[in-house]
Formats: sequence, C-alpha cells, structure tokens
Amino acid sequence: MNQDNLKRIAAQTALEYIDGGLIGVGTGSTVNHFIDLLAGIKHKIDGAVSSSKASTALLQSHGIEVLELNSAGELAIYVDGADESNHYLQLIKGGGGALTREKIIAAASKRFVCIADASKLVQVLGKFPLPVEVIPMARSMVARHLVKLGGTPIWREGVITDNGNQILDVHNLELSQPIALERTINDIPGVVTVGLFALRSADILILGTEDGAKTIYAETIEVDP
Ligand code: 5RP
Repeated sequence: MNQDNLKRIAAQTALEYIDGGLIGVGTGSTVNHFIDLLAGIKHKIDGAVSSSKASTALLQSHGIEVLELNSAGELAIYVDGADESNHYLQLIKGGGGALTREKIIAAASKRFVCIADASKLVQVLGKFPLPVEVIPMARSMVARHLVKLGGTPIWREGVITDNGNQILDVHNLELSQPIALERTINDIPGVVTVGLFALRSADILILGTEDGAKTIYAETIEVDP
C-alpha cells in the first residue's frame, strides 16, 4: 500500500471520534483525506474551525461551514496530521507551514486526534527539520539563536505563511527534551511559533498501517518535567 492509502486509513478511523458540534481541522495531505471523508457525515456537525486557507477552501468546497475560532468557544475535538510523533505523542508539525494556527486550535480543543501514516512514529523526534515561524524582520537574528542551540536553520525561501510570516526549517537539533526546547525557542524574540507540539501534545495518534488503523495513546512522560 502506498503512503497516501495509509493516510486515508488513518483519516477514515478519525471519523469515529466525531460526535457533533464544531470540529477543529488541521492542514496537510492526511487532513485533506479527512476533510473529504468528513463531507460524508457533514449533516452530523455544526461546522469547522480551520487552521489554514487551504483547509478552509477544501472544507467550503464540500459545503462545510467554516467559523472563526473567536466565535466558536472551546472545541470538543481537533484533527490534524504531523510530520513526526514520538511515543509520548509529542509532535513535530509545520511541514505544510500552518503551524501557528494549528497550535492555536490544538490549544483551544479538549481532545487532539493526530492522524498519520505509520512512518511518522519515531523513537526520538528530530529527523524531520523543525519548522519555526518567524516575523520577517527577525529571521536572521532568530537563525543565529538557533545556531547557538546547535541547529542548522534553513530559510524556506519563497514561502509566506497565512499570517504573513516566514519559516526557518531547523536541522540537526538535539530533541530528546521536547518540552524544554519548545519553551526555549518560544522565548526567542521574533519567534511566532515553533513546530514542536510537546507542551500541548496529541491525546490520540491514529496510524495508517499495512494491517489497518492502529490507535496509540501517549506513554507516561518520565524524561521531561
Ligand atoms: C502542516 C502540518 C501537517 O500536519 C504535517 O506537515 C503533515 O502533513 P501530511 O499530512 O501532508 O503528511 O503540520 O503544517
């Protein structure tokens, strides 16, 4: 089975967690499958809060109403993909550049269901370069800070986020303490969002595997405070 089929299997299983109300919706190719499948049960939901212009356009193309988070209150569920997850369900996200709105909606949701193909589950985060959204005027300064942390930041040239900002993809970071590193990078002036989702990790990870969907619950964290 190809990777796209595995993503669809995960997206299909996430539908089982939809129980009416407003749904938080992430961004990316796995979420695109989820949105396509959500269209089949759209009569069961009140609408969606979207994490990107791309997801908004796809949701609306299926006739699913998209609401602003400011008028939505707390969401029961957020469904989104990931670039990597460890066994604590701490994630690297932002490959699609939507990390800021994704982090906001994850924080506004009671339950975060992450959907991915099985290749995304790793022992230690960090093979995938860590996306960091920055205010454009601060890009070089933030990059110097990230070098001091041991990283090799590469500017994602030509990409402007939905918030009008830029992205640095940081290679070679040591990511064994994701919560601490998330806090450290958050504290650099000019950083809008770091694509580490460790302070607010996922609650459930649904992986598409060759043998069907596999649901994983977070292991208890022992290494991080
Ligand atoms: C977008 C994201 C995506 O969830 C992540 O990049 C995974 O994408 P895909 O489902 O296409 O593999 O964080 O900002």
